[in-house]
Amino acid sequence: MDYSRFLNAVARKREPLLIRELFALQQKAPRDVVFLTTGVPNPDTFPIVSGSLQLRDGRTLTLDPGKMEQCLQYGPTPGYPPLLEQLRALTQKLHSPPGWGERELVVTTGSQSGLLMAMEMMLNPGDPVLVEQPCYTGALSIMSPHSPRFLPVEADEYGLRPDSLRAALSPWNPQDIRQATQGVPKFLYTVPTGSNPTGVVATEERRREVYKIAQMYNLIILEDDPYYFLQYHGKSFAPSYLQLDADGRVLRFDSFSKVVAAGLRVGWVTGPKPLIRKLNLHKGAAVISTASMSQVIISELLALWGDEGLDQHTHYLRQYYVAQRDAMLQAANKYLTGVCEWSVPTGGMFLWLKVCGVRDTWTMLLERGLEKRVMLVPGQGFMVDSTKPCQYLRASFSSTTPEEMDKGLCNLAQLIKEETELQKSVPLLKHG
Ligand SMILES: Cc1ncc(COP(=O)(O)O)c(C=O)c1O
Repeated sequence: MDYSRFLNAVARKREPLLIRELFALQQKAPRDVVFLTTGVPNPDTFPIVSGSLQLRDGRTLTLDPGKMEQCLQYGPTPGYPPLLEQLRALTQKLHSPPGWGERELVVTTGSQSGLLMAMEMMLNPGDPVLVEQPCYTGALSIMSPHSPRFLPVEADEYGLRPDSLRAALSPWNPQDIRQATQGVPKFLYTVPTGSNPTGVVATEERRREVYKIAQMYNLIILEDDPYYFLQYHGKSFAPSYLQLDADGRVLRFDSFSKVVAAGLRVGWVTGPKPLIRKLNLHKGAAVISTASMSQVIISELLALWGDEGLDQHTHYLRQYYVAQRDAMLQAANKYLTGVCEWSVPTGGMFLWLKVCGVRDTWTMLLERGLEKRVMLVPGQGFMVDSTKPCQYLRASFSSTTPEEMDKGLCNLAQLIKEETELQKSVPLLKHG
């Protein structure tokens, strides 16, 4: 594939930074070469020399002086080499992407920074962009300042709707779109697993159909998948877009935020080498390297766990969040039956509620929510046009107790009741 058409003028201008190239060279050079090049601080001045972290399972993760020195020093831009190796092995094991030799990985400061770099590498002001609707707010916040022309692609309980994707692309002829560099959609952004905010896991059939359309129109798929391990449908996982990627048109964003710890800020992007190289140049300019301490901790943890330990941990996470989800569903059934509509989340951390008798959840929540002692995210935040009224809201079940969920949804039911009454009285007031 020719990737140059996907890059905007800024990304095309990004060149390797000499000082970073020399740093990379130093990592591989024979030990007797005297490098008087990089301005890294002298480790002898670091005030911390070693450390140990207590794990929940009783074990200890030890950072001896050698490891600690790596934690406290700059690292190579693509990532801490042992972690990169582990992520390569993990990605290959989980997704067996075709044409593995043509792909590369880069560690990112959470998947958010990967998304920002990828979108800012491709977007031109005013470009049409295909986004799943409803859409993760963090992705909208990256794209919106570039004033794109959002082409929303509707999703239902099976994932992105191919008919909606075709309709969004219908103004263009596939032949014209395939080569153009500007003014045509170049990528599709989607969260296929446990969508934020809907909790939907896209089916294999849908993913295959969407991938075919992407092939036809020569689109890059931005597969944002931080909830990959949080799938609750019991069967085996649907193949990721990366797994289906025969052409090299998928940039996949993974994250340790929901799996290990969000505060460590470690994720990774997998994709075709030419695009990952550009992300690396952006990353080098933006942050030099991801926090070494975070990368070493993740790497050491993965090494201690091994494949089996990681499997056990992700199994535990699924069990934990399924119980949380079920507590939320129990409260929803108790208080919101007949008031709201929802489908059972098959992944992720959210329940997406449609409030039947309320035109706009924004005013309801932001004007009267606190008074009623409940707050949720109004649906508008997830819509490409946030000026339109929206009947939806997002309830998170990740970190509240079943008692809090019960109380929260009880309060919500009362809030909705009052709002419905209020809306009924508005036309009466207007018409005297
Ligand atoms: C769909 C989606 N993508 C990306 C992110 C950002 O994750 P990270 O913490 O890895 O930056 C989130 C965080 O909630 C998310 O829900």
